[in-house]
Amino acid sequence: METRAIIVAAGRGERMGAGAPKAFLPVAGVPMVLRSARAFDGAASVSAIVVVVPADRVDETRDLLRGLSRPATVVAGGERRQDSVRCGLSALPADFDGIVLVHDAARPLVDAALIEVVAAAAMRAGAAIPVLPVTDTIKRIEDGIVRATVDRTALGAAQTPQGFLATLLREAYDAAFRDGVVLTDDAMAIERLGRPVRAVPGSARNRKITTAEDLAWAEDALGRGGDR
Ligand code: CTP
Ligand code: MG
Repeated sequence: METRAIIVAAGRGERMGAGAPKAFLPVAGVPMVLRSARAFDGAASVSAIVVVVPADRVDETRDLLRGLSRPATVVAGGERRQDSVRCGLSALPADFDGIVLVHDAARPLVDAALIEVVAAAAMRAGAAIPVLPVTDTIKRIEDGIVRATVDRTALGAAQTPQGFLATLLREAYDAAFRDGVVLTDDAMAIERLGRPVRAVPGSARNRKITTAEDLAWAEDALGRGGDR
């Protein structure tokens, strides 16, 4: 089954506070969006890549991605992450019925092994996401008072890439937009239709870069991995 990737990079990066869109910040000299795109370009099962960026960065991104071996389409994103994913979905061929992998550019240390695991699981189950076990003890807090300790064995922290049958993701996104739902990840759109989403093991290295601290961690991790 054909697999295509959508990389969303159209956020403003407000929590990073760099005064520029986060996905264009370099990590060890290479912009996050390019690092993420290279990972998908290097994944054997991925045939084409859509990259979603701020409207005023489209031309610059086309230049940036020129060295990729897979066809890459660059389109403008929207106000919220889910709007940007929708822009990416619209850029796929209308009759595409393979697997779509949706990835945050802000996870630039993703690797081909994780991409392949998610793609394979999505082919079998229709939808699959990488999750990390929760290691901290999690409390439910109301008005500054701890009300309960949540059983963490049943919890997982969701990462990207998240993989879906394209037909299923389109249907789920149409329903979420029709119902005015705010999505914090893509799998949520599938879950609310009552469809199963398969959880596969995520990777600690595939951390989302949100703050300056995360950026420093990533530079350090790349230094340690020796694969700058
Ligand atoms: N994203 C997007 N379009 C948006 C918002 C987010 O494509 N309107 C992308 C971001 O570029 C990022 C991913 O979604 O790769 C995850 O979002 P997040 O980590 O929240 O990034 P930002 O929205 O850029 O950061 P912030 O929330 O701090 O502004
Ligand atoms: Mg955001």
